[in-house]
Amino acid sequence: MSMTKASMCRLVKGCDLNHHGTLFAGRGAEWFVEAGFITAASVTAPERTVCAKIHGMVFTRPVKKGSIVRAESQIVLAGKTSLTVYVKLVIHPQDEFVVDGFLTFVNVDAAGRPTPHGITVTADTPEEEALQVRARTILSAGGALKNNKVGG
Ligand SMILES: CC(C)(COP(=O)(O)OP(=O)(O)OC[C@H]1O[C@@H](n2cnc3c(N)ncnc32)[C@H](O)[C@@H]1OP(=O)(O)O)[C@@H](O)C(=O)NCCC(=O)NCCS
Repeated sequence: MSMTKASMCRLVKGCDLNHHGTLFAGRGAEWFVEAGFITAASVTAPERTVCAKIHGMVFTRPVKKGSIVRAESQIVLAGKTSLTVYVKLVIHPQDEFVVDGFLTFVNVDAAGRPTPHGITVTADTPEEEALQVRARTILSAGGALKNNKVGG
């Protein structure tokens, strides 16, 4: 299937700030993971989806109180039981880049054991192909690229 995509927005409120008065990294990370989880779970199921790894996040700019943060996410790689999702946070609606990265989720059975999801992911654009290359590089570096199927 084509890369499943999702987006969500969050308002940066007082309770989301750090001691500098800007978005707390922990809150940004929460939204980052939540966006990835929702995207993966939309093709499996929330009760069968667990996060195995956050492959890293680099915050490139502080985010002010009152900003709207938009998380854009898409499934870029499917393994036998795993799904790797790309997430990008931007300031909405200006599209100012804040952070991006990859997460891997695993489809599990009722006992929490990894179980095949039967999903394949196809890159339809050069941008999607580039994301697959980035994801495969990261997964390879981490030694977790045994069964990932990309392409048609
Ligand atoms: C995620 C979990 C189910 C994996 O169990 P496991 O027995 O280590 O699984 P396996 O070694 O059989 O690997 C299963 C899949 O996960 C992938 N995986 C496991 N660890 C990984 C890692 N560190 N990075 C990337 N992928 C990973 C494997 O590559 C494999 O993918 P594939 O089937 O598509 O090839 C298990 O570690 C777990 O339950 N962790 C806790 C999850 C959790 O509570 N998350 C927070 C709440 S959402």
